[in-house]
Amino acid sequence: MKPFKIKNISIDPPLVLSPMAGVTDFSFRRLIKARGGVGLSVSEFISVEGLTRHNPKAKRQMRFDEMERPFAVQIFGGEVNRMVLGAQMAEDVGADILDVNCGCPAPKVVKKGGGSGLLKDLPNLETILTEIKKNISIPLTLKIRIGFSDSTINAIEVAKMAEQCGVEHLQVHGRTREQGYKGEANWDVIRAVKEAVSIPVSGNGDVTSVKFALDKFKETGVDGILIGRGAMQNPWIFRQINDALNGDEPYQPTFEDKQVVLLEFFELLREDMPELPALGKMKQLAGQFTKGLVGGAQFRQTLYHSHSAQEILDNIGNYFAALDVKQTYGDGNVEAGTDSDLQFDSCGDPSRERTSSRIDQKSRNIAAAS
Ligand SMILES: Cc1cc2nc3c(=O)[nH]c(=O)nc-3n(C[C@H](O)[C@H](O)[C@H](O)COP(=O)(O)O)c2cc1C
Repeated sequence: MKPFKIKNISIDPPLVLSPMAGVTDFSFRRLIKARGGVGLSVSEFISVEGLTRHNPKAKRQMRFDEMERPFAVQIFGGEVNRMVLGAQMAEDVGADILDVNCGCPAPKVVKKGGGSGLLKDLPNLETILTEIKKNISIPLTLKIRIGFSDSTINAIEVAKMAEQCGVEHLQVHGRTREQGYKGEANWDVIRAVKEAVSIPVSGNGDVTSVKFALDKFKETGVDGILIGRGAMQNPWIFRQINDALNGDEPYQPTFEDKQVVLLEFFELLREDMPELPALGKMKQLAGQFTKGLVGGAQFRQTLYHSHSAQEILDNIGNYFAALDVKQTYGDGNVEAGTDSDLQFDSCGDPSRERTSSRIDQKSRNIAAAS
Protein backbone atom coordinates (compact mmCIF):
# COMPACT_ATOMS: atom_id res chain seq x y z
CA MET A 1 0.00 0.00 0.00
CA LYS A 2 1.19 3.44 -0.86
CA PRO A 3 1.03 6.48 1.41
CA PHE A 4 -1.97 8.67 0.64
CA LYS A 5 -2.52 12.39 0.78
CA ILE A 6 -5.01 14.49 2.71
CA LYS A 7 -4.85 17.62 0.57
CA ASN A 8 -1.10 18.34 0.65
CA ILE A 9 -0.28 16.20 3.73
CA SER A 10 1.26 12.81 3.14
CA ILE A 11 -0.02 10.04 5.42
CA ASP A 12 3.00 7.79 5.35
CA PRO A 13 2.60 4.98 6.29
CA PRO A 14 -1.17 4.92 5.68
CA LEU A 15 -1.86 3.99 9.29
CA VAL A 16 -3.70 6.14 11.81
CA LEU A 17 -3.73 5.94 15.60
CA SER A 18 -7.49 6.09 16.10
CA PRO A 19 -8.71 8.63 18.66
CA MET A 20 -9.78 7.15 22.01
CA ALA A 21 -11.06 9.48 24.71
CA GLY A 22 -9.35 8.80 28.01
CA VAL A 23 -6.64 6.76 26.25
CA THR A 24 -4.93 8.58 23.35
CA ASP A 25 -3.76 11.52 25.40
CA PHE A 26 -0.48 13.41 24.99
CA SER A 27 1.50 10.64 26.77
CA PHE A 28 -0.04 7.62 25.06
CA ARG A 29 0.20 9.13 21.57
CA ARG A 30 3.91 9.92 21.94
CA LEU A 31 4.55 6.44 23.34
CA ILE A 32 2.94 4.82 20.30
CA LYS A 33 4.37 7.24 17.74
CA ALA A 34 7.88 6.51 19.01
CA ARG A 35 7.42 2.78 18.28
CA GLY A 36 7.13 3.62 14.55
CA GLY A 37 4.61 3.07 11.80
CA VAL A 38 2.07 5.74 12.76
CA GLY A 39 1.30 7.98 9.77
CA LEU A 40 -1.25 10.19 11.54
CA SER A 41 -2.00 10.92 15.20
CA VAL A 42 -5.32 12.30 16.38
CA SER A 43 -6.24 13.98 19.66
CA GLU A 44 -8.91 12.57 21.92
CA PHE A 45 -12.27 14.02 20.91
CA ILE A 46 -12.56 17.52 22.31
CA SER A 47 -15.82 19.20 23.26
CA VAL A 48 -16.43 22.47 21.41
CA GLU A 49 -18.65 23.48 24.31
CA GLY A 50 -15.58 23.17 26.54
CA LEU A 51 -13.20 24.76 24.03
CA THR A 52 -15.34 27.79 23.30
CA ARG A 53 -16.02 28.35 27.00
CA HIS A 54 -12.26 28.23 27.58
CA ASN A 55 -12.41 25.12 29.72
CA PRO A 56 -8.76 24.41 30.63
CA LYS A 57 -9.16 20.63 30.19
CA ALA A 58 -10.41 21.06 26.62
CA LYS A 59 -7.51 23.39 25.80
CA ARG A 60 -4.99 20.98 27.33
CA GLN A 61 -6.37 18.22 25.12
CA MET A 62 -5.17 20.11 22.03
CA ARG A 63 -1.51 19.90 23.10
CA PHE A 64 0.80 17.94 20.85
CA ASP A 65 4.49 17.44 20.22
CA GLU A 66 6.27 18.26 16.96
CA MET A 67 7.26 14.59 16.68
CA GLU A 68 3.55 13.75 16.39
CA ARG A 69 3.07 15.56 13.09
CA PRO A 70 1.00 15.16 11.07
CA PHE A 71 -1.42 15.74 13.91
CA ALA A 72 -5.20 16.12 13.78
CA VAL A 73 -7.40 17.70 16.41
CA GLN A 74 -10.79 16.02 16.63
CA ILE A 75 -13.75 18.10 17.83
CA PHE A 76 -17.29 17.13 18.68
CA GLY A 77 -20.54 19.01 19.15
CA GLY A 78 -23.83 19.70 17.44
CA GLU A 79 -23.96 23.48 17.37
CA VAL A 80 -22.69 25.12 14.17
CA ASN A 81 -21.14 28.30 15.57
CA ARG A 82 -19.32 26.50 18.34
CA MET A 83 -18.04 23.87 15.90
CA VAL A 84 -16.65 26.63 13.67
CA LEU A 85 -15.00 28.38 16.62
CA GLY A 86 -13.57 25.11 17.88
CA ALA A 87 -12.17 24.33 14.42
CA GLN A 88 -10.51 27.75 14.26
CA MET A 89 -8.98 27.22 17.69
CA ALA A 90 -7.48 23.94 16.49
CA GLU A 91 -5.98 25.68 13.47
CA ASP A 92 -4.63 28.42 15.73
CA VAL A 93 -2.73 25.94 17.93
CA GLY A 94 -1.03 24.59 14.81
CA ALA A 95 -2.88 21.34 14.17
CA ASP A 96 -2.28 19.99 10.66
CA ILE A 97 -5.80 18.66 10.21
CA LEU A 98 -9.25 19.28 11.69
CA ASP A 99 -11.33 16.16 12.24
CA VAL A 100 -15.04 16.15 13.05
CA ASN A 101 -16.41 13.37 15.25
CA CYS A 102 -19.52 11.81 13.84
CA GLY A 103 -19.28 8.50 15.62
CA CYS A 104 -19.28 8.83 19.39
CA PRO A 105 -22.21 6.77 20.72
CA ALA A 106 -22.27 8.19 24.28
CA PRO A 107 -25.82 9.30 25.19
CA LYS A 108 -24.63 12.55 26.73
CA VAL A 109 -22.99 13.49 23.39
CA VAL A 110 -25.76 12.20 21.10
CA LYS A 111 -28.48 13.93 23.13
CA LYS A 112 -26.91 17.30 22.30
CA GLY A 113 -26.80 16.43 18.59
CA GLY A 114 -23.07 15.66 18.49
CA GLY A 115 -21.06 12.51 17.70
CA SER A 116 -23.15 9.84 16.00
CA GLY A 117 -26.23 12.02 16.65
CA LEU A 118 -25.14 13.94 13.53
CA LEU A 119 -25.83 10.82 11.45
CA LYS A 120 -29.52 11.40 12.21
CA ASP A 121 -29.48 15.07 11.24
CA LEU A 122 -27.72 15.35 7.90
CA PRO A 123 -28.86 18.92 7.21
CA ASN A 124 -27.14 20.03 10.43
CA LEU A 125 -24.03 17.97 9.61
CA GLU A 126 -23.96 19.55 6.15
CA THR A 127 -24.15 23.05 7.61
CA ILE A 128 -21.43 22.26 10.15
CA LEU A 129 -19.07 20.90 7.49
CA THR A 130 -19.77 23.73 5.03
CA GLU A 131 -19.27 26.44 7.64
CA ILE A 132 -16.10 24.88 9.07
CA LYS A 133 -14.70 24.50 5.57
CA LYS A 134 -15.27 28.20 4.89
CA ASN A 135 -13.50 29.22 8.07
CA ILE A 136 -10.32 27.14 8.20
CA SER A 137 -7.46 26.60 5.79
CA ILE A 138 -6.16 23.29 7.15
CA PRO A 139 -7.71 20.10 5.70
CA LEU A 140 -11.06 18.96 7.04
CA THR A 141 -11.72 15.28 7.73
CA LEU A 142 -14.68 13.35 9.09
CA LYS A 143 -14.87 10.21 11.22
CA ILE A 144 -18.18 8.40 10.99
CA ARG A 145 -19.93 5.21 11.96
CA ILE A 146 -21.77 3.38 9.17
CA GLY A 147 -25.17 4.52 10.47
CA PHE A 148 -27.21 5.08 13.57
CA SER A 149 -28.81 1.64 13.59
CA ASP A 150 -29.01 -1.45 11.40
CA SER A 151 -32.12 -0.13 9.73
CA THR A 152 -30.62 3.30 9.01
CA ILE A 153 -27.19 2.56 7.55
CA ASN A 154 -26.40 5.75 5.64
CA ALA A 155 -22.60 5.86 5.37
CA ILE A 156 -22.66 6.23 1.59
CA GLU A 157 -25.11 9.12 1.70
CA VAL A 158 -23.06 10.81 4.41
CA ALA A 159 -19.82 10.22 2.51
CA LYS A 160 -21.15 11.74 -0.72
CA MET A 161 -22.53 14.73 1.12
CA ALA A 162 -19.25 15.21 3.01
CA GLU A 163 -17.30 15.09 -0.23
CA GLN A 164 -19.55 17.80 -1.66
CA CYS A 165 -18.89 19.93 1.43
CA GLY A 166 -15.14 19.72 0.82
CA VAL A 167 -14.18 17.04 3.36
CA GLU A 168 -10.79 15.70 2.36
CA HIS A 169 -10.61 12.34 4.14
CA LEU A 170 -13.26 10.01 5.47
CA GLN A 171 -12.64 7.60 8.29
CA VAL A 172 -15.26 4.91 8.61
CA HIS A 173 -15.72 2.79 11.73
CA GLY A 174 -17.68 -0.22 10.48
CA ARG A 175 -20.24 -0.29 13.29
CA THR A 176 -23.56 1.44 13.89
CA ARG A 177 -24.19 3.67 16.87
CA GLU A 178 -26.59 1.06 18.22
CA GLN A 179 -23.84 -1.57 18.18
CA GLY A 180 -21.58 0.47 20.42
CA TYR A 181 -18.41 -1.60 20.40
CA LYS A 182 -20.14 -4.98 20.16
CA GLY A 183 -20.29 -7.42 17.29
CA GLU A 184 -18.00 -7.19 14.32
CA ALA A 185 -17.15 -4.16 12.24
CA ASN A 186 -18.79 -4.33 8.81
CA TRP A 187 -16.00 -3.86 6.29
CA ASP A 188 -18.40 -4.45 3.35
CA VAL A 189 -19.97 -1.07 4.02
CA ILE A 190 -16.50 0.45 4.34
CA ARG A 191 -15.66 -0.95 0.88
CA ALA A 192 -18.91 0.45 -0.52
CA VAL A 193 -18.02 3.90 0.84
CA LYS A 194 -14.58 3.69 -0.74
CA GLU A 195 -16.19 2.87 -4.07
CA ALA A 196 -18.74 5.68 -3.80
CA VAL A 197 -16.43 8.70 -3.40
CA SER A 198 -13.17 9.96 -4.85
CA ILE A 199 -11.63 11.42 -1.68
CA PRO A 200 -9.40 9.11 0.39
CA VAL A 201 -11.24 6.68 2.66
CA SER A 202 -9.76 4.86 5.64
CA GLY A 203 -11.33 1.87 7.33
CA ASN A 204 -11.56 1.11 11.01
CA GLY A 205 -12.68 -1.64 13.33
CA ASP A 206 -11.18 -4.71 14.98
CA VAL A 207 -7.68 -4.50 13.49
CA THR A 208 -5.49 -6.37 15.97
CA SER A 209 -3.14 -8.26 13.65
CA VAL A 210 -0.94 -7.71 10.62
CA LYS A 211 -2.89 -10.26 8.60
CA PHE A 212 -6.26 -8.66 9.32
CA ALA A 213 -4.92 -5.27 8.23
CA LEU A 214 -3.39 -6.60 5.01
CA ASP A 215 -6.58 -8.51 4.19
CA LYS A 216 -8.70 -5.39 4.67
CA PHE A 217 -6.44 -3.25 2.50
CA LYS A 218 -6.77 -5.87 -0.24
CA GLU A 219 -10.47 -6.65 0.11
CA THR A 220 -11.77 -3.08 0.40
CA GLY A 221 -9.24 -0.92 -1.44
CA VAL A 222 -9.17 1.57 1.44
CA ASP A 223 -6.42 4.18 1.39
CA GLY A 224 -5.63 3.85 5.07
CA ILE A 225 -6.47 1.97 8.25
CA LEU A 226 -7.15 3.28 11.75
CA ILE A 227 -6.26 1.23 14.80
CA GLY A 228 -7.55 2.02 18.27
CA ARG A 229 -7.81 -0.68 20.89
CA GLY A 230 -5.25 -2.90 19.16
CA ALA A 231 -2.56 -0.32 19.98
CA MET A 232 -3.11 -0.88 23.71
CA GLN A 233 -2.48 -4.60 23.39
CA ASN A 234 0.38 -4.18 20.96
CA PRO A 235 2.08 -0.78 20.68
CA TRP A 236 4.21 -2.14 17.78
CA ILE A 237 1.21 -3.02 15.60
CA PHE A 238 1.71 0.00 13.31
CA ARG A 239 5.39 -0.76 12.80
CA GLN A 240 4.59 -4.42 12.14
CA ILE A 241 1.92 -3.62 9.54
CA ASN A 242 4.24 -1.12 7.89
CA ASP A 243 7.01 -3.74 7.76
CA ALA A 244 4.62 -6.14 6.06
CA LEU A 245 3.44 -3.44 3.63
CA ASN A 246 7.10 -2.93 2.68
CA GLY A 247 7.56 -6.66 2.15
CA ASP A 248 9.64 -7.09 5.32
CA GLU A 249 9.22 -9.50 8.20
CA PRO A 250 7.13 -7.76 10.91
CA TYR A 251 9.22 -6.54 13.84
CA GLN A 252 9.04 -8.79 16.89
CA PRO A 253 9.47 -6.80 20.11
CA THR A 254 11.91 -8.23 22.65
CA PHE A 255 11.26 -8.52 26.39
CA GLU A 256 13.50 -5.52 26.78
CA ASP A 257 11.32 -3.52 24.36
CA LYS A 258 8.29 -4.44 26.45
CA GLN A 259 9.94 -3.32 29.67
CA VAL A 260 11.05 -0.09 28.02
CA VAL A 261 7.48 0.61 26.84
CA LEU A 262 6.09 0.32 30.34
CA LEU A 263 8.84 2.43 31.89
CA GLU A 264 8.69 5.03 29.13
CA PHE A 265 4.92 5.31 29.46
CA PHE A 266 5.19 5.85 33.18
CA GLU A 267 7.87 8.50 32.67
CA LEU A 268 5.73 10.33 30.09
CA LEU A 269 2.75 10.21 32.43
CA ARG A 270 4.76 11.45 35.40
CA GLU A 271 6.04 14.41 33.38
CA ASP A 272 2.46 15.30 32.64
CA MET A 273 0.40 14.58 35.74
CA PRO A 274 0.60 13.83 39.47
CA GLU A 275 1.47 10.36 40.75
CA LEU A 276 -2.06 9.13 41.45
CA PRO A 277 -3.59 9.71 38.03
CA ALA A 278 -0.38 8.43 36.44
CA LEU A 279 -0.83 5.18 38.40
CA GLY A 280 -4.41 4.96 37.15
CA LYS A 281 -3.33 5.35 33.55
CA MET A 282 -0.59 2.73 33.98
CA LYS A 283 -3.17 0.30 35.29
CA GLN A 284 -5.44 1.09 32.35
CA LEU A 285 -2.69 0.23 29.84
CA ALA A 286 -1.61 -2.79 31.88
CA GLY A 287 -5.13 -4.23 31.53
CA GLN A 288 -4.51 -4.64 27.81
CA PHE A 289 -0.75 -4.71 27.37
CA THR A 290 -0.04 -7.55 29.81
CA LYS A 291 -2.21 -9.88 27.69
CA GLY A 292 0.80 -10.35 25.42
CA LEU A 293 3.27 -11.14 28.22
CA VAL A 294 4.36 -14.42 29.81
CA GLY A 295 2.59 -14.72 33.15
CA GLY A 296 0.78 -11.50 32.24
CA ALA A 297 -2.22 -12.20 34.50
CA GLN A 298 -0.03 -12.40 37.61
CA PHE A 299 2.12 -9.46 36.54
CA ARG A 300 -1.02 -7.41 35.95
CA GLN A 301 -2.18 -8.09 39.50
CA THR A 302 1.09 -6.73 40.91
CA LEU A 303 0.56 -3.55 38.87
CA TYR A 304 -3.06 -3.20 39.95
CA HIS A 305 -1.98 -3.47 43.55
CA SER A 306 0.80 -0.92 43.29
CA HIS A 307 -0.02 2.20 45.23
CA SER A 308 2.98 4.41 44.54
CA ALA A 309 5.35 5.22 41.72
CA GLN A 310 8.15 3.33 43.46
CA GLU A 311 5.99 0.25 43.92
CA ILE A 312 5.00 0.16 40.27
CA LEU A 313 8.61 0.61 39.15
CA ASP A 314 9.74 -2.14 41.55
CA ASN A 315 7.07 -4.50 40.26
CA ILE A 316 8.05 -3.86 36.65
CA GLY A 317 11.72 -4.41 37.56
CA ASN A 318 10.96 -7.62 39.49
CA TYR A 319 8.86 -9.02 36.68
CA PHE A 320 11.49 -8.54 33.99
CA ALA A 321 14.31 -9.68 36.28
CA ALA A 322 12.39 -12.91 36.99
CA LEU A 323 11.84 -13.44 33.27
CA ASP A 324 15.52 -12.90 32.63
CA VAL A 325 16.58 -15.50 35.20
CA LYS A 326 13.84 -18.12 34.91
CA GLN A 327 12.51 -17.34 31.42
CA THR A 328 9.03 -17.55 32.91
CA TYR A 329 6.72 -15.90 35.46
CA GLY A 330 3.54 -16.84 37.34
CA ASP A 331 1.65 -19.57 35.50
CA GLY A 332 3.83 -18.98 32.41
CA ASN A 333 0.75 -18.42 30.24
CA VAL A 334 0.37 -15.78 27.58
CA GLU A 335 -3.31 -14.82 27.40
CA ALA A 336 -4.94 -14.45 24.05
CA GLY A 337 -6.62 -11.08 23.66
CA THR A 338 -10.29 -11.76 22.98
CA ASP A 339 -13.06 -9.60 21.61
CA SER A 340 -14.58 -9.25 25.04
CA ASP A 341 -11.29 -7.86 26.34
CA LEU A 342 -11.73 -5.05 23.88
CA GLN A 343 -15.28 -4.07 24.74
CA PHE A 344 -15.88 -0.61 26.01
CA ASP A 345 -19.14 1.06 26.89
CA SER A 346 -18.66 4.47 25.43
CA CYS A 347 -16.24 7.01 24.16
CA GLY A 348 -15.45 9.82 26.46
CA ASP A 349 -16.04 7.98 29.66
CA PRO A 350 -13.20 5.63 30.46
CA SER A 351 -14.63 5.02 33.94
CA ARG A 352 -17.37 3.02 32.26
CA GLU A 353 -15.06 0.74 30.31
CA ARG A 354 -16.16 -2.85 30.53
CA THR A 355 -13.06 -4.96 30.10
CA SER A 356 -12.70 -8.47 31.37
CA SER A 357 -9.79 -7.36 33.48
CA ARG A 358 -10.55 -6.51 37.07
CA ILE A 359 -9.12 -3.07 37.49
CA ASP A 360 -10.10 -2.14 40.98
CA GLN A 361 -12.61 0.67 41.27
CA LYS A 362 -10.06 2.95 42.86
CA SER A 363 -7.74 2.90 39.86
CA ARG A 364 -10.71 3.32 37.50
CA ASN A 365 -11.67 6.45 39.35
CA ILE A 366 -8.14 7.73 39.19
CA ALA A 367 -7.94 7.10 35.42
CA ALA A 368 -11.29 8.73 34.85
CA ALA A 369 -10.38 11.79 36.84
CA SER A 370 -7.21 12.44 34.88
C1 LIG B 1 -12.18 4.03 25.11
C2 LIG B 1 -12.51 4.49 23.72
C3 LIG B 1 -12.62 5.83 23.46
C4 LIG B 1 -12.92 6.27 22.16
N1 LIG B 1 -12.95 7.61 21.92
C5 LIG B 1 -13.12 8.06 20.65
C6 LIG B 1 -13.00 9.43 20.33
O1 LIG B 1 -12.73 10.27 21.19
N2 LIG B 1 -13.19 9.80 19.05
C7 LIG B 1 -13.48 8.91 18.04
O2 LIG B 1 -13.63 9.29 16.89
N3 LIG B 1 -13.56 7.60 18.32
C8 LIG B 1 -13.37 7.15 19.57
N4 LIG B 1 -13.40 5.81 19.83
C9 LIG B 1 -13.57 4.87 18.69
C10 LIG B 1 -12.22 4.43 18.12
O3 LIG B 1 -11.51 5.51 17.55
C11 LIG B 1 -12.44 3.37 17.03
O4 LIG B 1 -13.24 3.94 16.04
C12 LIG B 1 -13.10 2.11 17.58
O5 LIG B 1 -12.56 1.73 18.82
C13 LIG B 1 -12.94 0.95 16.58
O6 LIG B 1 -11.60 0.73 16.28
P1 LIG B 1 -10.70 -0.42 17.00
O7 LIG B 1 -11.43 -1.72 16.82
O8 LIG B 1 -9.39 -0.38 16.26
O9 LIG B 1 -10.59 -0.05 18.43
C14 LIG B 1 -13.12 5.34 21.11
C15 LIG B 1 -13.01 3.99 21.38
C16 LIG B 1 -12.70 3.55 22.66
C17 LIG B 1 -12.58 2.08 22.89
